[in-house]
Order: sequence, then structure tokens, then C-alpha cells
Amino acid sequence: MIMLSSDGVSMHFGGLKAVENVDLEVRKGEILSLIGPNGAGKTTFFNVASGFLKPTRGQIRFLDREITGMPPHEIAAMGLVRTFQKTNIFAGITVEESVRVGFSLHRKASPASIIFGGRAVRDEDEEIGGRLREILRFTNLEEWSGSLVKNIPYGKQRILSIAIALAAEPSLLMLDEPATGLNPVETKELIDIILRIRGEKDITVFLIEHNMRLVVSISDRMIVLSYGEKLAEGRPEEVSKNPLVIEAYLGKGFQNVSQG
Ligand SMILES: Nc1ncnc2c1ncn2[C@@H]1O[C@H](COP(=O)(O)OP(=O)(O)O)[C@@H](O)[C@H]1O
Ligand SMILES: [Mg+2]
Repeated sequence: MIMLSSDGVSMHFGGLKAVENVDLEVRKGEILSLIGPNGAGKTTFFNVASGFLKPTRGQIRFLDREITGMPPHEIAAMGLVRTFQKTNIFAGITVEESVRVGFSLHRKASPASIIFGGRAVRDEDEEIGGRLREILRFTNLEEWSGSLVKNIPYGKQRILSIAIALAAEPSLLMLDEPATGLNPVETKELIDIILRIRGEKDITVFLIEHNMRLVVSISDRMIVLSYGEKLAEGRPEEVSKNPLVIEAYLGKGFQNVSQG
């Protein structure tokens, strides 16, 4: 089953073709990576797919519905939830409170009933409390739950942005360079979390990543962008041996991966 598809998507900024005529599909249950040199258009593609930019041309479909031009919160409510390349979490509140924000997308009780209380609100609060603890446990953030976000290690902040995204109950989770700035121990932890997100939560994962070892080790498929265009796609072992891909990455360490 196809979860997300892009049909001839272009995103131009003035004369700059940041994304040019990209066709791609994300299949249910897979871990798909979008890779490519800096400036290739990866983040721009994510911005278009998640509704933060309206494409110059082309269509995006999610779960058999056209979502091109829909606002990001509506797309997120349908189940397409993304994280950002730069952490955009709330430094002044606690880890637990920030994950709570992620739940607000699906909160059913009306604002008035939340203010004045009532059985439905208490039930919902209890349910959210349970799911909150589950997410903190799942992402190994339990011990930090009462800490202010600004006081936890950077790697934990990156994991926290994934926890917040999980609270919004995605069926497709899109991660923009989740391993940036992580040390090797944190990177291993991240890999484990991504594999469990797919394996245990049955969430499809579409990620942008620079760390080639990470990408090759966890992806079912890879798509390569270069200068906004799709350059190659396939299984990691094929893509990492593709001469066009190696050339696009020349001097950036990709050859090491293809040589094992
Ligand atoms: N809002 C914007 N306005 C103008 N140019 C942009 C904007 N966003 C991205 N770009 C340009 O589009 C190109 C692709 O950027 P980006 O998608 O961030 O690449 P990547 O994520 O692959 O490193 C770059 O040249 C970047 O400077
Ligand atoms: Mg980027």
C-alpha cells in the first residue's frame, strides 16, 4: 500500500529550483531514506509534503487523498507528522510538558470543558497520562521527564522532538536529520528507537539523514536527490554502489560506505 506519493512536485524559489519534478512513493511499513548532498532539496521536499510550503507544481497524496496546499495541522491530524532539522522544542518547559503538547492535536474535550472540568476531561486526562508515560518509556526519556528541556543533553533534546511527534499519533513519521549532533552512543539509541517505531508501533518512517552508515543500516529503500532532482532510488546496497550517487557525494565520504 502506498502511504504518500508525490507526482511531478517542483518547488522553485525565484530562479532557484530547490525541488524539480520529483515523483516518489512511500510504502506502508517501510523505512525509507531521502539522501543527497547539502542543498539538494531534501528539507524543501519535506516542507512541501507536510504542508509548510505550497509546491510550484505537482501533487502530493497521503492515504489516497490529495493534500497539496492543505495546512500543516490538518495534514498532521491525518497522520503525517514530521520533525525539524533544527530542534524546535520549548526550552523553558519540562520534558513531560512538551510531550503533552504533542497530544493537543487530538484532544477531544472542548476548551470550556477543559477549564470547568467534568468526567470526560478527567477520563481523557487519565488516558493521556498513560500514553504520555508509555511514550517517555519508549524513547528512554523517563528519567528526564521532570527536567527542563534546556537542561537535558542535546542528544536527548533530539529524541524528545521524536517523542513529541509520536504523541501526535502518526501513521507516517518524517524525520529531518535526526542524528545530527548525536554522539555514537546516542546514534545507536536513535537507531534502536527508529527500528522500534516501525517494528512495535507499526509506523512508517521516512527520514532525511546525512549519516550514511545509519541510513544504509536501517533503510529498506533509499531515494537520492541531487540539485532538486531524483537521481537514484532502490535498496541501500544498490544505491550506495551507483556511480551517479558516488559522484554526487564525491569527497563527502560516501565511497567508504559502498566499499564496506
Ligand atoms: N524558503 C526558502 N527560500 C529560498 N531558498 C530556499 C528556501 N528554502 C530552501 N532554499 C534553498 O533551496 C535549496 C535546497 O535547500 P534544502 O531543501 O534546505 O536542502 P537540503 O535539506 O537537501 O540540504 C538550497 O539552495 C536552499 O538555500
Ligand atoms: Mg535539510
